[in-house]
Amino acid sequence: MKKIIISAIAKNGVIGKSNGEMPWHSKEEFQHFKKTTFGYPVIMGRVTFETLGKPLKGRLNIIISRNKNLNYEFADTKMFDSLEEAYVFCEKQNYEKIFIIGGAKIYRQAMDTVDEMIISNMNFEAEGDVFFPKINMDEWKVTSRYKKNEFEILVYVRRNSNGNKN
Ligand SMILES: NC(=O)c1ccc[n+]([C@@H]2O[C@H](COP(=O)([O-])OP(=O)(O)OC[C@H]3O[C@@H](n4cnc5c(N)ncnc54)[C@H](OP(=O)(O)O)[C@@H]3O)[C@@H](O)[C@H]2O)c1
Repeated sequence: MKKIIISAIAKNGVIGKSNGEMPWHSKEEFQHFKKTTFGYPVIMGRVTFETLGKPLKGRLNIIISRNKNLNYEFADTKMFDSLEEAYVFCEKQNYEKIFIIGGAKIYRQAMDTVDEMIISNMNFEAEGDVFFPKINMDEWKVTSRYKKNEFEILVYVRRNSNGNKN
């Protein structure tokens, strides 16, 4: 099962606002996100789910929270109290791939566990106070780039564990 982080990052590293507002609206980026994740489980932190307000269609929405009393009355949602438990569940279901869709707290914890990162680098700065964690280029290499109008998609894969940086 391939674990993939997917995120959209402004030029100044911003991915969100802690008040729940979206720092930007990009139809083009939203379409890329939908096309890439559609049909696969998406794992997110409780704050991100509440920012969305409802499950993303056509995907199992897995929400991570320490609050065991939370119970969203939506179909297509599942809750776990850790990322690890969510992974165990997904492994059992034999999913081909799963997407970790944020926010910052979940990205930070998932970064050491994922195989790939699909990052949309937006071509503008944004106002906000939630940032994507620093990508350590000793651990990751960019294998493909796709230019869009408002952003560039970079695909990161892990460098070989033997330290080969090519
Ligand atoms: N630009 C992008 O691509 C993108 C993507 C996604 C989100 N965002 C933005 O990111 C922001 C939200 O990010 P965030 O960092 O504030 O929150 P988050 O990562 O979405 O959610 C954090 C919550 O997840 C739960 N959690 C985290 N680690 C856990 C663990 N180890 N075990 C159990 N539960 C755990 C906790 O929920 P409880 O408090 O319920 O225990 C925690 O409060 C929003 O502004 C959103 O718009 C941007």
